[in-house]
Amino acid sequence: MIVRPMVDQERIVRELEALAEFSDTPKPAITRILYTKPDLEARAYLKGLCEEAGLSLREDGLGNIFARWEGSAPKLPAVGTGSHLDAIPYAGMYDGTVGVLGGLEAIRSLQRSGFKPYRSIELLIFTAEEPTRFGIGCLGSRALAGVLSPESLGQLKDREGRYLEEVRREAGYTGHLEEVQLPQGYYSAFVELHIEQGPLLEQERVPLGIVTAIAAPATLRIDLEGVGGHAGTVLMPERRDALCAAAEIVLGVETFAKNSGSINTVATTGFCEVYPNAVNSVPSRVRLEVDIRDVEQNRRDQVIRNIIQGVEQVCIRRKIAYNVEIINIDPPAKASSEVLKALVASCSEAGVRFKLMVSRAYHDALFMARIAPTAMLFIPCRGGVSHRPDEYASPEDIARGTYVLALALAKLSLTEDKTAPKEESVPLSD
Ligand code: HGY
Ligand code: MN
Ligand code: MN
Repeated sequence: MIVRPMVDQERIVRELEALAEFSDTPKPAITRILYTKPDLEARAYLKGLCEEAGLSLREDGLGNIFARWEGSAPKLPAVGTGSHLDAIPYAGMYDGTVGVLGGLEAIRSLQRSGFKPYRSIELLIFTAEEPTRFGIGCLGSRALAGVLSPESLGQLKDREGRYLEEVRREAGYTGHLEEVQLPQGYYSAFVELHIEQGPLLEQERVPLGIVTAIAAPATLRIDLEGVGGHAGTVLMPERRDALCAAAEIVLGVETFAKNSGSINTVATTGFCEVYPNAVNSVPSRVRLEVDIRDVEQNRRDQVIRNIIQGVEQVCIRRKIAYNVEIINIDPPAKASSEVLKALVASCSEAGVRFKLMVSRAYHDALFMARIAPTAMLFIPCRGGVSHRPDEYASPEDIARGTYVLALALAKLSLTEDKTAPKEESVPLSD
């Protein structure tokens, strides 16, 4: 069956720009933190677009949004696609949103082409892919995959000490958290479209990436407590300065990652809170949050062990009290061969060159891969820049990724059973 999705490139760009208006920072910087006003406005905007497309909507107790295009076999597991709308402080306007609006446009382009889905096709907009508010990334997809239980969700506190339970209700999400986890087999396949957030596709002038694996992320929270005091009167030999200990630890994080033996190991101390944070007061407390990743789980775990040992050595020598909490330590995800085949076939059908590659960034697909055959499509982003206001993806690249996504969704929607899409087994659609 030949499918010719009719992608409206101008429309996606218009909608991305409209979405970028919902931000707590002036453009081009985008800040859209979980359950804040911009986040709720962005959700409302997307739900409106999904309703316009005739999709049936539902939201779960965390605010994951499901927009379904019902197929002729509504009882069969659906084909899913989607990504996230939230954005870290001072981010760009393409991270996550390309996968949400591209997923929606892929569905609309199939509707325009007269394609009739066999398996339903569902757009999934994940709650809180970014760790900003509650310190852990992929909150929505972890809960959908059953990686975060309702109890552990309920204990999450934000930086103001507010519990998730409280803020989600305030945002209007009162559904039972016990009902968030998706049953195994809910989706027959899941594909996430996303900007690469790295430089390879642009450098190698390849228009599309097909992601075969997603690197394994981990986050440590390190709390340090020394002794505070007057910056003028506490003499150096008596000091137990928490920030000086933190400084040694931060450099240790960098050194352990650099010396892991592989370029694939990365570690970042992206969060540092100093108390009392006054120029003339010796820091008594510091909180660090460290992000460690590698495509190879054992190598990543060795770096984590080295960092924790480093914390112990520095703090014993400096007489600093410390606590290290592992916020998350996730295995990498491998893409499903059947979904990879559908993506490769769609690229060749579209006449688009592609590169098989690993994602160093994590995505909701990292957790969807636990409950459904999953893969990702990457489009290039200028200079590989992301998580910065100058993040950019061209309308042509966005439209091309959307077109190939639409072809893949159509293929996956027409699969009769769990094996790879087989043309001959394609049921006749009316
Ligand atoms: O940090 C990440 O990898 C993702 O962009 N949140
Ligand atoms: Mn991101
Ligand atoms: Mn993202």
